[in-house]
Formats: sequence, C-alpha cells, structure tokens
Amino acid sequence: MNLVIIGAQWGDEGKGKIVDYLADRAENVIRFSGGANAGHTIVAGGRTYKLHLVPSGMVYPGKQCLLGAAMVIDPEALFNELAELETQGVDWKGRLFVSDRAHLVLPSYKAVDKEQDQKRRFPIGTTGRGIGIAYGQKANRDGLRVCDLYDEKFYSRLTAEEKAFLDPYKEKLAPMVVNAAYWMEERKNSMNLFEGAQGALLDLDSGTYPFVSSGFSCAAGASVGGCVGPKKLDKILGIFKAYQTRVGNGPFPTEFKEERDGDLETLVRELGHEYGVTTGRARRCGYLDLTALRYACIVNGITGLVLTHIDVYDGMDEIRACVGYRIDGKETAEFPSKITDLEKAEPVLKTFKGWKKPLGGVRSKAELPTECLDYLNFIEEFTGTPISIISVGPDRDQTFNAEDPWTK
Ligand code: IMP
Repeated sequence: MNLVIIGAQWGDEGKGKIVDYLADRAENVIRFSGGANAGHTIVAGGRTYKLHLVPSGMVYPGKQCLLGAAMVIDPEALFNELAELETQGVDWKGRLFVSDRAHLVLPSYKAVDKEQDQKRRFPIGTTGRGIGIAYGQKANRDGLRVCDLYDEKFYSRLTAEEKAFLDPYKEKLAPMVVNAAYWMEERKNSMNLFEGAQGALLDLDSGTYPFVSSGFSCAAGASVGGCVGPKKLDKILGIFKAYQTRVGNGPFPTEFKEERDGDLETLVRELGHEYGVTTGRARRCGYLDLTALRYACIVNGITGLVLTHIDVYDGMDEIRACVGYRIDGKETAEFPSKITDLEKAEPVLKTFKGWKKPLGGVRSKAELPTECLDYLNFIEEFTGTPISIISVGPDRDQTFNAEDPWTK
C-alpha cells in the first residue's frame, strides 16, 4: 500500500510527529521533495529528534528510508544530520537509500540563494539553504545529480572547488545510491509511506506563488519524487494545525492583528512553540483558514485530514476560523490565485464555543468534549474531507485514529 502524507497549509503542521506515528506500520518511508529547508521535530521515547533531510521514519529501528528523486540534497547537511542521529543512538547504516536522480546542493548555492532573494521583485524570505538555486539549475538543465558523481565525463566538467567539496561524499554516498524506480518496484507490495515536506500552499505550482518553495510539496510530488505512477497512490493524508502559521514573507489573510485580536498571536505562538526548526524564526500565526484548507483538499485530492495542535485552544472561551474572504467588498469562498487579492482579503470569521478542558489525555474521538466535536464536524463538512487522525500533544501516544490509515 502507498500512503502519502503532505502538509495542507504553509508547512510546519506537525508532519514529523505524524510520519513517525504512521511509520509504526510502514516498512519503507520515502521523502519525496525539498531539501534541508524542511525541519521536522519528533518526540519519541523521551528524546527529541530534529530532522531536515532524513525521513522521519529513520528514528524507528528497522525501517528503510529513501531520499527520493525530486529532492535536492546538500551532502554536508545530510552527513552532519546522520552524525547527530548517531549520537542519539539511531543506527542508520544500511537503512538509508538515496535516489541517483536526486539533485545535489553545493555550498556556493547558499550565498546566491540569499543574494538573489534581495533582488527579486518580491523577496520571499528564503531559508537560505540553496534549495531554490538547486531547483533552478535543475530546471535550467544544468544541475548536478547524485548519479553524476560517478560519471567521469560529467565529473570532469566540474570546477576544482566543486570537486574538492564533493570528493569525500562520493565514497560516503556510494553504498546508499539506488535507481529508485526499481527500488520502489521491488517494494510494490510493501507498506510504503511517502513523506512530504513544506506544505500544499508552498508548492511551486499550486501554492501562493511567488511566495512558495521550489519543490513539489503537493500530493502529486509523491508520484514524481517517489518514482511510482499516480494511480499507485492509495491514500493522501493532509495535515493541518487547528490554527494557521507561515514562515517568511507572503500573503496570510487570517494572520492575527493586534487591533482586532489583542495578544492572541503571542499566546498561540507560545502555546504552540511556533519557532522554526531550521531557522529559529518566530512563525507568523493566525486563525485556521478553512477556505485555504478546502482549496488544498481539492487540488491535492486529500482523502483524509490529520488535525494537530488542537490542544492549543484548551483554555479559550471561543475559537474562530475563516470560512471565506471579503475582497473589494465582495465575499468569495474561493482561494484566489492573485497575490494582491490574497493580500487584500479580509477573513470572514465564524465563532465556535470553546471546550475549556485539557485534551492532552484524550485517546479517542468519543472522549472529545461536545464543543470540540462540533468544531471538527464543521471542518469536515466545510472541506468535504473526513478527519482521520487527531493529535492532542507532542508525544507519539497523544495521537488517535478516527479510521485506520493503513487500510485502502
Ligand atoms: P526556500 O524553500 O528556502 O527557498 O524558502 C521559500 C519559502 O518557503 C520561505 O518563505 C520559507 O520560509 C518557506 N519554507 C521553506 N521550507 C519550509 C518549511 O519546511 N516550513 C515552513 N516554511 C518553509
């Protein structure tokens, strides 16, 4: 079975935790897109793991993990991360594989990434990890792929500086390199978990362009980067937080405003620990945007939603969520393509009653307070998508299913 999990907002929805939770039953975990711009936090067995490139399934002994064909890999960042995992007792050797079609990120790309952002018509606030430069080189048919490390003709055209950087990684990477199409074909009857990075609204094509990342954070990316045909994807799960966050620049219609919302942003940021794993930047916070979530469900064919951080609302009298936009005085239920429209959009907010009870100890949907269930039912109806998994805290065991994610 091929189960895909993507972020359904602007990233940071809690993918690390949920992939780790789902990895329990997976045999293989395939990270299909992005690079070291991602930051996934996993809390398991009393330890906290912070991952950027390595699939979250790696912290589970015995799982095989693949860095897919649509990824851009900084080898230095990869081996630093693996060394850190080793100090935390994770034995990764023999379990991590790298697609030979994945592209490589060179050190020089990082400075160019930051420089280029200043020159953009609309600076996007890149993480500066060289991701956009690697994808740009790829689209320009001048990129450097993992397989090119072992192609003498190709390698001879690299500069002395590039070779000096890459030489040590040729040998280190060699035992991990696979032709991913056949690696996946051999595992076609296994339980395969496809792990997305970033989120639906940061996807190059269907996100809030140009304020997006440069990879495929959409569900279709699982097919491209995971080297399986689209008809082979059995289920698409979309993770969303009970509120909305964004890192970097770009329109954010439901962002908290002091004049309207008082100190709600500070409260949500502190309760939800909304600081970037990769950059440490404070995340922008706002009301849950159901208009954007519905769009993400439509454009990605999401078959089930995964709700995280619902416990952030435990102490609140009431909860608000966006159910449409007012743009130039006109109400719309559609997520606009034009950035200016998104910037002008005033959220139409619906208020729900709070439950005023801690949810951290809840272990089934039936135990949820009525007010919370009302909120969840509304989300399901509005997006036309069932909520399949609910997370009520950072630990692995603070998670429960409304339906078994591993059945077709
Ligand atoms: P880049 O991918 O580093 O070029 O960054 C492009 C935009 O995507 C910036 O606004 C980043 O803050 C955002 N971004 C990239 N990766 C992530 C992520 O994993 N979570 C949240 N935002 C991200």
